[in-house]
Amino acid sequence: MHGTVSDTDGDRAWVFGYGSLIYKVDFPILDRAEARIDGWARRFWQGSHDHRGTPESPGRVLTLVRSPGTRCRGVAYRVSHEVFDHLDHREKNGYARYRLPMEMLDHEVSTTEGVIYVAEEGNPAWLGPAPIDEMARHIATSEGPSGPNADYLHRLADALRERDEVDEHVFELDRRVRALRGESA
Ligand code: BEZ
Repeated sequence: MHGTVSDTDGDRAWVFGYGSLIYKVDFPILDRAEARIDGWARRFWQGSHDHRGTPESPGRVLTLVRSPGTRCRGVAYRVSHEVFDHLDHREKNGYARYRLPMEMLDHEVSTTEGVIYVAEEGNPAWLGPAPIDEMARHIATSEGPSGPNADYLHRLADALRERDEVDEHVFELDRRVRALRGESA
């Protein structure tokens, strides 16, 4: 894994989902909570050649970037240590783990420490920022073994709307990709 700077403690830990992990969990969980982290924002700046694209034509997927004053809503899952092996493998395409405080919104514990996966600038699959219309065209036309890149975006946007959470980066891409694909919001 690229630049791992944190680890889990004991045999279980919280992991924060901010992308597909909000709406799709493919591992056993011990507990869950709606959650929020401070100082990070979602960006479709990471390439995906194994899930939403191919090595020849990587898709665009999420990472988190530092953004003081921004709060990022997601879902925290309490998992056993083996799940991190699964996630490390699934996210082997450039993600590193960081440990940070999380605010729990519907749990008896109000704050806890947990792990986020972040793809940093300079990792082998990094795409970085691009004009919004270019990113939208890229997402609208990419597809990989996990399905169309657009589905990843639309399901995330729907999951955020269900939570009354506004993320203009995601919503603007959602609107533009739907328009390009001839779909209504
Ligand atoms: C997610 O929340 O979808 C996510 C989790 C781990 C790595 C990348 C994304």
